Amino acid sequence: MDKFLITGGHPLTGTIRVSGAKNSALPCMAAAILTADDVILENVPQVRDIDTERKLLASMGAEVELWDDGDTRRTRIRCATLSDPIAKYEIVKTMRASSLVLGPLVARTGIARVAMPGGCAIGGRPIDLHLKGLEKMGAVITTQHGYIEARTDRLRGAHIVFDKITVTGTEDLLMAAVLADGETLMENCAREPEVVDLAALLTAMGARIQGAGTSTMCVQGVTSLSGARHRIFPDRIEAGTFLIAGAITAGDLVVADCNISHLGAAIAKLQEAGARVDTLGRDALRVRSNGYLRAADISTEEYPGFPTDMQAQYMALATQADGVSLVKENIFENRFMHVQELARMGADIRLEGRTATVRGKAQLSATHVMCSDLRASASLVLAALVADGQSVLDRVYHMDRGYERIEEKLRAVGAKIARVSNVPAPQSEEALAG
Ligand code: UD1
Repeated sequence: MDKFLITGGHPLTGTIRVSGAKNSALPCMAAAILTADDVILENVPQVRDIDTERKLLASMGAEVELWDDGDTRRTRIRCATLSDPIAKYEIVKTMRASSLVLGPLVARTGIARVAMPGGCAIGGRPIDLHLKGLEKMGAVITTQHGYIEARTDRLRGAHIVFDKITVTGTEDLLMAAVLADGETLMENCAREPEVVDLAALLTAMGARIQGAGTSTMCVQGVTSLSGARHRIFPDRIEAGTFLIAGAITAGDLVVADCNISHLGAAIAKLQEAGARVDTLGRDALRVRSNGYLRAADISTEEYPGFPTDMQAQYMALATQADGVSLVKENIFENRFMHVQELARMGADIRLEGRTATVRGKAQLSATHVMCSDLRASASLVLAALVADGQSVLDRVYHMDRGYERIEEKLRAVGAKIARVSNVPAPQSEEALAG
């Protein structure tokens, strides 16, 4: 297992570039199941979750090719035949988002078998809403031996009202609806930019979708889809993590290649906390801080609210802000795995139910900490960047699931961070969150 060694106390300066969005690339790769033609995706980040999805698609019979021609990295996926429409437990247990293949598989082949994802580090994370929607569209769902099976001759359009807003649930059913017979009306949909990115790809493939990015979507099913080429948009969570890195280290950092319009809630909160954030052209932000940050509360919400995927990173910042910050987690019941580790570094955090009370400013002191899930790892990296001394972060394979070459990117803007390679990660300790 690799470790990070991070010596705190160095302000980040210069320009850091944002990679393509993992959470957009994952459903877009699954969308390739819907056609026998080539789907070419650009700006796919090289992170472990993407490798996992590549393996998943390949295990079903898809051809998946990756190539790099200088500036542009492309992934070509061709699902001409899907000989084995099964998402096996060995893969699903390492990445819960594997359930994204359920809708497209049943829509394209009439049958899908997906291992039940089980619990994960940040809570139960059921997929009941995916299944309920597929049943409404005429799929017969059975569960046996730890697998969910969905079967139908052809899905039919339906009226689906999500009981709760779910991002991958919206994406999964959207991919099912595009090949269903007739019209599907979906209400209380996720409005996340990742849903919009997926809808753009599906539209380029020939799907007929209205309302992506709003809570009501209407899909007119078509009988077949063709291939397409699509560029994945920038990762808003990685961008937000870098903005916090600039602010927390009293740096002067340009976060380039980002989509500014996706970052409204994060920018507003950083400004409230006393950081200066300026727009530079169309796709870059400059974040500056003179070292004084003040407490500001956050409450995680669905988009366009403050993202749950930024809660852990924001908490690291809150430990450095003057006063009491309340951090309320509304999306996942147990997404506070980073609290204990931050406390071990000297943070003053009291946890009660879904709210953490953070008192700052705390002098963080470097120690040996354990990454528990993807965003918790990012929070510990941020804390280590300001801690006194050298921190050792264990189990950074969690970080590698979603951040591309993070240590190289941070080192290039002044962080003292090194990766120490050790033994491979045990399969049983993979994180399922984030
Ligand atoms: C996606 C993101 C993840 C992010 C999360 C919330 C991907 C690959 N992952 O996860 O990074 O943290 O959105 O923004 O895009 N729920 C149910 N039943 C369901 C589905 C969800 O009860 O069938 C609940 C969940 O337990 C959770 C809430 O709905 O409490 C939101 O979860 P959801 O939006 O589905 O998260 P993911 O799509 O898994």
